[in-house]
Amino acid sequence: MQSALVILAAGMGSRMKSDLPKVLHEVAGAPLLVHAMRSGAALDPARVVVVTGHGAEAVEAVVAKHAPDAICVRQAEQKGTAHAVDQARAAFADFEGDVTVLYGDTPFISADTLARMQARRRDGADVIVLGFEAANPGRYGRLVTNGTTLEKIVEAKDANPQELAITLCNSGVITADCQTLFTLISEVGNDNASGEYYLTDVVGLATTKGMRAEVVTCAEVETLGVNSRIELDRAEQIFQTRARQAAMENGVTLAGSDSIYFSFDTKIAPDAWIGPNVVFGPGVRIEAGAQIRAFSHLEGCHVGPDAQVGPFARLRPGATLADGARIGNFVEIKNANIAAGAKVNHLSYIGDASVGAAANIGAGTITCNYDGVMKHRTEIGEKAFVGSNTLLIAPVRMGAESMTASGTVVTKNVPDGAMAIGRAETVNKPGFARKLMQLLRAKKAKRGR
Ligand code: UD1
Ligand code: CA
Repeated sequence: MQSALVILAAGMGSRMKSDLPKVLHEVAGAPLLVHAMRSGAALDPARVVVVTGHGAEAVEAVVAKHAPDAICVRQAEQKGTAHAVDQARAAFADFEGDVTVLYGDTPFISADTLARMQARRRDGADVIVLGFEAANPGRYGRLVTNGTTLEKIVEAKDANPQELAITLCNSGVITADCQTLFTLISEVGNDNASGEYYLTDVVGLATTKGMRAEVVTCAEVETLGVNSRIELDRAEQIFQTRARQAAMENGVTLAGSDSIYFSFDTKIAPDAWIGPNVVFGPGVRIEAGAQIRAFSHLEGCHVGPDAQVGPFARLRPGATLADGARIGNFVEIKNANIAAGAKVNHLSYIGDASVGAAANIGAGTITCNYDGVMKHRTEIGEKAFVGSNTLLIAPVRMGAESMTASGTVVTKNVPDGAMAIGRAETVNKPGFARKLMQLLRAKKAKRGR
């Protein structure tokens, strides 16, 4: 049976106190909504519908970028969760299969949990609700059960004291056959404490019709929804703790794991070594045996097997290091290929460039890639030796096994095997240093310190 997703993302999230729609606030470098969509991807959905409202344009732009096939529908006014799902009705007119509803502000629903809900559907239950034992049930909807069946869901605002004493709560995630779900939703009213159309009412309606509703439970942490900056920070910490554990379980050494920060999509092969205070932005892939030393910042880059980076290095988008390449301290690499065994060990900027195999880039080398309007490329051939403090005025090419003398400003291509020298010649003035010092000291003494 095929599956589909509805992701609710219309809410304002007033407690964030932000101009940015709540679901666009980021955990581990990705918007909450993208985390929710990635969770839902575990169902391999044939259709994904995102319900937008507050900040719809910004939210839709993120959806279009992350999942171009997803459909966005707008909920002009937020009249409740059932009303929100109802906006997706037309998008499902021709759909046969199950629909699972997720919230765009709930980033941690696991693949395993969704699979268990799916399995329960296959076993014949009509409506499956994801519940959890709440440490502090507060304003969560309460799940009223009778043995293994779920009778109804009561929102905290509408609950009587006995119902309020229930600790089994509604996560908001619900799965049902598409047609069943929309039929039930069309019967949901808004005669309740909030005057809202509650999605949770579909459970009571299903039971009345003789259908079977059931609960699948998961750990409370999975159901964490983000409503405030404090909860956003908590979600970040939970994500980081899990990412660190997963990396270590996968064979990666994290030296000082608490200070290493991952992105939602960081990929590190076993036997890589990561030092303290390393931060991974989005789009990083690290191969086996690579070492990323302390205080390095990496983003949108690929670090090949046995390459070394840092300490204090910055790899920006498009940096690609081949086998055994070395990037040392205070070096920035952007949109550049560093071939096998090449070294850029100290204080350099290499941008929009290619550096050939086994080339050696001296301290203080800068590719001058930007003329104020356009970017230009620098190509450095294999086994080239770039002297310290070389400026390469792009576009420019240095051939294989070519060299530059230290301090050279390279303004034209250097042929294979050639040496470029472009600097003023040194003139020695005998005795001048001593004389100058005496002069200056005398001047200072006269001034009386
Ligand atoms: C909802 C559930 C409650 C559950 C809780 C879990 C209902 C009636 N109640 O309550 O049982 O315990 O979630 O967190 O479903 N949204 C829209 N449009 C709307 C209303 C909401 O898109 O008109 C979105 C929100 O942006 C949010 C999600 O739906 O992502 C849940 O809405 P919210 O108002 O937070 O529901 P709760 O009152 O927390
Ligand atoms: Ca909520």
